[in-house]
Amino acid sequence: MLEDITASLISPDWVPDPSFNLPPIRLGVMASGSGSNFEAIAQAIADQHLNAKICVLIYNNPGAKVSARAARRDIPAILLNHREFESRDALDREIVKTLQNYEVEWVIMAGWMRIVTPILINAFPNRILNIHPSLLPSFKGAHAVEQALAAGVKITGCTVHYVVPEVDSGAIVMQAAVPVLPGDTPETLHNRIHLQEYRIFPRAIGLAAVQQAQAGEK
Ligand code: GAR
Repeated sequence: MLEDITASLISPDWVPDPSFNLPPIRLGVMASGSGSNFEAIAQAIADQHLNAKICVLIYNNPGAKVSARAARRDIPAILLNHREFESRDALDREIVKTLQNYEVEWVIMAGWMRIVTPILINAFPNRILNIHPSLLPSFKGAHAVEQALAAGVKITGCTVHYVVPEVDSGAIVMQAAVPVLPGDTPETLHNRIHLQEYRIFPRAIGLAAVQQAQAGEK
């Protein structure tokens, strides 16, 4: 029963159109922690569900598990430790330089737990996506899963959206709904949300790239 529910609630229900051929999208992924979304995107590319290449991983926490995931896939991983920069702007200037060095076209924030500035946003206009563990615009910020539990909602989920200066507020690309079950803890609920994140993030990247390419053709 539950499987039926969770399988159906992704919107928009988009899959790549093989007749719409684009060169592989050059991605730069930014992550702070475990990197299971990084892994899901890399696997979707390996499985040819997403026509893209991860050119570089940028991570900010030394020892973050995501760096080992990148190493296993021979993807360059650059540590930009925010603690070593004098300001958010200084960090973002270095991020932009790194992304440009690797000729990145789309920036993918996959569990990047820092606020980004217009320096980064303006360097990649309409080309930065973030994943957030709630159905935005509900529960913005760093504790979305805890907030959903505290509010007593019965359905939450995850959202892929464009990044704009206001946190968790850009245009929504794709969402998946996830039921909150009796007895859920932040961990059990976040685990269930994660499973849907792995499904929507690669698809949303493909959808956004196709939409932007089509918009550029008009
Ligand atoms: C994901 O659930 C993502 O939605 C969340 O961090 C997790 C990263 O997991 N992002 C935010 O909360 C952003 N505000 P991962 O490192 O295993 O991909």
